[in-house]
Order: sequence, then C-alpha cells, then structure tokens
Amino acid sequence: MIDLANGAFAGERHSIVTPAQGSTAELLAALGTVVANIPGDHAVGLAFPSVIRQGTVRTAAHLNKAWIGQPLAKLAAQYLGRPVIAINDADAAGVGELHYGAARDVQGTVLLLTLGTGIGSALFVDGKLVPNTELGHLEVRGEEAELRASGRIKVEKNLSWDAWADALNLVLAEMHALLWPDLIVLCGGITEEPEKFMDKLRCEARLCIGTLRSEAGIVGAALATTLV
Ligand code: BGC
Repeated sequence: MIDLANGAFAGERHSIVTPAQGSTAELLAALGTVVANIPGDHAVGLAFPSVIRQGTVRTAAHLNKAWIGQPLAKLAAQYLGRPVIAINDADAAGVGELHYGAARDVQGTVLLLTLGTGIGSALFVDGKLVPNTELGHLEVRGEEAELRASGRIKVEKNLSWDAWADALNLVLAEMHALLWPDLIVLCGGITEEPEKFMDKLRCEARLCIGTLRSEAGIVGAALATTLV
C-alpha cells in the first residue's frame, strides 16, 4: 500500500511473480493473492506494459497476444471487488517521478524512459501526461529503439557498457530531435548502476536518473487511482 501524502510504502510489501506470457486468468489470480493482504477497500492501481485506453489493453509487445482487447480495469474490479484503474507502466513511472521524484515541479516538456524488457516512455507537458506515447518502438536508424538500448538487449547481446551507452545515445539523440524535452529521466533496473554509464551519455537535454527507482511505477499507479 502507498501513502499518497509522500509516495512511500505504508505497511508490509507483498509481491508475486507472474509468468511473462501469462493469461488474463493467471494475472487476476495473482492480483487476488496480493490484494488479499491489504485490508479495507482501497482502490488498486495497475501499471501494465501495454497501451491502455480507458482501462482496456490495446497492444501486447511482450505479452500474451490474448491480452489485446481485454478490459483489464473492469475485469480486475469485478474480480477484486475494489475500484481499479489501469495505466501504461511507463506512464505510471512518470506520474510517480513527476509527483514525488526526479521530475517533481519540473515545468516544460519532460520525457521519462524505462529501460527494462522494452523501452517505455512517458511524456509530460507542463505536468500533464500525454498518455501511451510508446516511443520505445520509434525506429532509430532502421531499428526499433527498444531493440537497440533496452536493459534486456544489453544482457541478451552481452553489450559492454560503452556499446550500450553508444546505442542509448543514438536513441536519445533521435528522441531529442523530435521532442526537444527540457528533461529526460531514465528509469529501470539498469539505472541502479548509474556510475557505469551516465558519464558516457551525451544529450542536449538535461538528463538524470529517476529517484524512485523500481518503485516509480507502483507509486505512480497508486497515485493515478486519485487522478481519474
Ligand atoms: C511496450 C510499452 C511498455 C514498454 C515498457 C514496450 O514494449 O510497448 O507499452 O511501456 O515496453 O514495459
């Protein structure tokens, strides 16, 4: 549970591993197990790795394709008996960093990138989210950004930090050329080791690491329950 006054965890944390290609039923069952630990009828915020429009899943880049078209928020609300909102995972991380973290009170154009299995993006203009930007699928010199510079690609291709930073620099340059953001916030497990790559990155925009780390999406999804 998240204390929305400060974006911090309140009470015990509960987590459960879900299979990457899991079905709707498997995810609902896992959600039920986690949420059963939280007394009361608090609203539930879901950060989901796909385009989400009005609570419905519209894409499935790294998920079971059967998710496309599923009304996730409605199904989860029925299953859990609680109010549920669902938003894109990177948008959730962005909401978290914007309200409680590295982008707090930053005006102008803020771009947040999550560098994990894929590359997720969240775009804010003067604090307002432009949802579902999906910039990880932007083609950069003939290859999708997330196939060049996600955290997963660094591991799968066994890239050195130099090689990975070069790839990320190409991605950042392309995104900068199209959006001219004032600030770019980098998030995701790989950013736990900023000393390995931050001094290798070159970007015309101000660049920083998210301060909420892996919790940004959880915190942002919790806050999103109050914003819609
Ligand atoms: C998906 C996005 C998601 C990102 C990070 C991409 O492949 O298309 O919706 O935000 O991965 O999980």
